[in-house]
Amino acid sequence: MIRLNVNGEERAVDVDPDTPLLWVLRDELRMTGTKYGCGIAACGACTVHMDGMPIRACQTAAGDVEGVAITTIEGVNGKAAEAVQEAWRDLDVPQCGYCQSGQILAATSLLSDTPKPTDEDIDAAMSGNLCRCATYHRIRAAIHRAAEKMEG
Ligand code: FES
Ligand code: FES
Repeated sequence: MIRLNVNGEERAVDVDPDTPLLWVLRDELRMTGTKYGCGIAACGACTVHMDGMPIRACQTAAGDVEGVAITTIEGVNGKAAEAVQEAWRDLDVPQCGYCQSGQILAATSLLSDTPKPTDEDIDAAMSGNLCRCATYHRIRAAIHRAAEKMEG
């Protein structure tokens, strides 16, 4: 049995500690907003926050994150997260949507650390999150829009 803190709630799950966090979230806790893309930390679809930092849930053993705060798309909140989600809606960012929970988690983490990011900051922070629909221009514009919302 391992004990996880997910979206502010303590959750006990009966899994091998080596089980990737992604499968614990999706299969045990039924939080399916976090997606499986590549399984090798190369696409960012499975991005969640560990104490506010983006991590790849597909390559994170559940046993290694006992006692730290995990946040998924179902629970992300706060000023940066709200600004990002509003901006995503304003600019209609998603196409198929598959990559977008990971994109939103990555963008929220960027804006929490860097409230006024440059294009270069955005490219650096978001380069590990791939989008097969190529929504990159809208993502970048939405991050700038979210930064403006946070200022205002
Ligand atoms: S599924 Fe984890 S990075 Fe692609
Ligand atoms: S919106 Fe389709 S993969 Fe990104």
